[in-house]
Amino acid sequence: MFESSSSNERVPLSEEKQGSVYVQEQTAVDTARGLFYIESYGCQMNFNDSEIVASVLSEVGYQSTQNLYDADLILINTCSIREKAEDTVRKRLQLFKKLKRKKRGMLVGVLGCMAERLKSKFLEDEKLVDLVVGPDAYRDLPRLIERADDGEKGMNVFLSREETYADISPLRLDQNGVTSFISIMRGCDNMCSFCVVPYTRGRERSRDPFTILAEAQDLFANGYREATLLGQNVDSYSWENPETGETVNFAQLLRLVAGVHPDLRVRFSTSHPKDITNEVLETIASHANICKYIHLPVQSGSSRILDMMNRTYDADWYRERIEAIWRIIPDCAISADIITGFCTETEEDHQATLDMIRFAKYSASYMFAYSERPGTLAARKYEDDVPEEIKKRRLSEIIEVQSQSSLQHNQNEIGRTCEVLIECDSKRDDREFKGRNSQNKITIFPKAGSVGPGDYVNVKITHATSATLRGVIVAPSH
Ligand code: SAH
Ligand code: SF4
Ligand code: F3S
Repeated sequence: MFESSSSNERVPLSEEKQGSVYVQEQTAVDTARGLFYIESYGCQMNFNDSEIVASVLSEVGYQSTQNLYDADLILINTCSIREKAEDTVRKRLQLFKKLKRKKRGMLVGVLGCMAERLKSKFLEDEKLVDLVVGPDAYRDLPRLIERADDGEKGMNVFLSREETYADISPLRLDQNGVTSFISIMRGCDNMCSFCVVPYTRGRERSRDPFTILAEAQDLFANGYREATLLGQNVDSYSWENPETGETVNFAQLLRLVAGVHPDLRVRFSTSHPKDITNEVLETIASHANICKYIHLPVQSGSSRILDMMNRTYDADWYRERIEAIWRIIPDCAISADIITGFCTETEEDHQATLDMIRFAKYSASYMFAYSERPGTLAARKYEDDVPEEIKKRRLSEIIEVQSQSSLQHNQNEIGRTCEVLIECDSKRDDREFKGRNSQNKITIFPKAGSVGPGDYVNVKITHATSATLRGVIVAPSH
């Protein structure tokens, strides 16, 4: 889930092109006051936050544009998870700075995790940004923009214990109209020693279930057929009704959302191995529309490293949770996040990680080289002592073992028929559709009959690579 340093920008940006495209668009700019452009990095929660920002801005009359060069307000919603993520943002800011020089009155704002981590540091360079707004302060954007319009720099990086934006209906940006996200909680109370998120997102808090349910119902009514419930640790979702004192846990929330309609698929991310309960697994097993797919980040296969990472489980505990998934949901696909080259990691620890991939038979993994983040427990306590070349080599070994595992997983599907929700045309060939099955496998197949995005079809799988399944429609599903 959590590494997509993609953005929603549509304009190809080679340095050379920028000037000319900008000049071409300039006449349009004069008539297009109040247009904002937002670019997002990092996890799905951050992308979903951009939709909350879009909603806040549209309330005060701003309109969204997909074209950077049309915008009066450029926002960049940033990620701090690894150094590389921050470097990408820094590069983009340099480009925006050039645009600012050419277009008087245009504002640039930094939102999200980097804004929270670096705070006023962004304001030190006078011409770089006008606004710095942390993840819990988006309601304050209209006021901050007004101040910035008057020439003052605007900053709000206050982290809240309550803010969940529960009442804000996200303005869906750049979506396929079929799949969407619902944030069910914010922040994180775990203290994984490598991780910056608790510092950039603050304390964990759960959103009230009624607004979550209303958002799911609204999505379904608007034609969406899949909702992914988002949180850094969804298994610790817990909401207490202030009137009755009753609590709603994650399994109960899943049941509520699954009850919206049998044709609304429900997914969720991310589960934490220490918190995922059998009640959650049984809930998944007993609901046809809760997808049979669990993202269960392991981080390392070595108990010694897991302890230093402060993950609060060991390799045996993790293996037991995998076995529980297989027992309760036999057709469930499991994926993971893995960090290689954490402080003091030996070849033996590394082998334990490779063994874990083979054991868990992951359908996919998001794999990263450890990147020390300033201020985290690991940065304060341990030396980042695994040389870059070793991190690189271990990462490529991990990728290799994972891709064999993914291929095996996919080849097992050949000959089987699975239900696929059609999302859109395939990127490569518009005579084909792209969708995903319950196990989150991307499935490509030729168009046939009168079905289209938002419909369920049964697809018989004929080919498989480590990344994709291919097949043919055998019948519309329901
Ligand atoms: N809340 C989720 C993950 C959030 S961050 C969870 O606990 O699983 C997404 C992933 O980024 C993490 O699972 C981890 O694999 C990776 N990550 C986080 N900090 C990192 C760092 N300092 N260096 C490299 N990878 C990191
Ligand atoms: Fe980071 Fe750990 Fe929280 Fe995930 S659970 S966001 S890795 S501190
Ligand atoms: Fe997400 Fe990156 Fe922040 S992963 S929570 S945007 S640090």
